[in-house]
Amino acid sequence: PRNVIIDCDPGIDDSLALLLALKSPELNVVGITIVCGNVPTHIGAQNALKILKLVDRLDIPVYLGANQPLKVAYTSAQDTHGDDGLGNSAIPAVTAVAPAKDAVGFICDTLTEAPTTTVIALGPLTNIAQVLQRDPQLFAEVDQFTLMGGSYKSHGNCSPVAEYNFWCDPDAAKLVFDQLPVPIQLVGLDVTRQIVLTPSLLTYIKDVNPEMGRFMEKITRFYFDFHWQYERVIGCVINDPLAVAAVLAPKLLGGFTSYTTVVADGVARGQSIVDDHDFWHAQPNSRVMTRVDVNAFWRLFLTRVAGATDP
Ligand code: BDR
Ligand code: CA
Repeated sequence: PRNVIIDCDPGIDDSLALLLALKSPELNVVGITIVCGNVPTHIGAQNALKILKLVDRLDIPVYLGANQPLKVAYTSAQDTHGDDGLGNSAIPAVTAVAPAKDAVGFICDTLTEAPTTTVIALGPLTNIAQVLQRDPQLFAEVDQFTLMGGSYKSHGNCSPVAEYNFWCDPDAAKLVFDQLPVPIQLVGLDVTRQIVLTPSLLTYIKDVNPEMGRFMEKITRFYFDFHWQYERVIGCVINDPLAVAAVLAPKLLGGFTSYTTVVADGVARGQSIVDDHDFWHAQPNSRVMTRVDVNAFWRLFLTRVAGATDP
């Protein structure tokens, strides 16, 4: 299996992404690093532990990372994910294991010892930016760097132009696109908005795997209500699992190679700008995903997470 670090801010959809990764034999999750985003870091770490406990993998270490974005004030997304980050589901805290300190140190050490480790980033990019600030070359040999964030043609989800992960720490996002020495696979809202967990899918999961179905129902109820109230969507968009799927099954997604940067401040704070017409003649630094085979994604997710045999 491929060694992978998952940097995340769990978060309802991050939690589903962790489940997909943990239930996929192609991936060996060597560590989960937590950044402040959807919820403050200590809450995100607790949620990662809850997911690890659910799948009986508390042997995987969880590391606490940045508590604050690089420069701007921190804004959580607890309006979307609940105060506890898991839809106010009151899932009991894990007390048997405590998260470790120093996510940035862990990423640096891992990439020094195993430079080809794949990195999947599902939250604001503060931890990743801090690794780059120590030594950008640590990422030079990674097998793949995939992130959920930004949007290409789609509108934003926390301003007309900005997606949350880039908006929350725009300086980190800009630094990552400016300095990462390998191309970034960009799984943005254009593709993730197409991944909607519907009530029927949830019913199917409960039929196939009652324990997993009940867990997913508990953590997504709040998210369902949020989507109906603000977007008139029936069900909920789950962004982050698609970034894991992009590593697991690259053919699920399609896109193009381009130069991308991020706006650090002002009215367009956090906007991703993809130079798809090569106006700037800049070295391409990203692979921008624009197409997804939605049914194939769900077949993968249902097979792995719910254990469905023939979805
Ligand atoms: C992203 O922001 C968070 O709310 C989600 O976890 C996802 O990573 C979507 O904009
Ligand atoms: Ca996330």
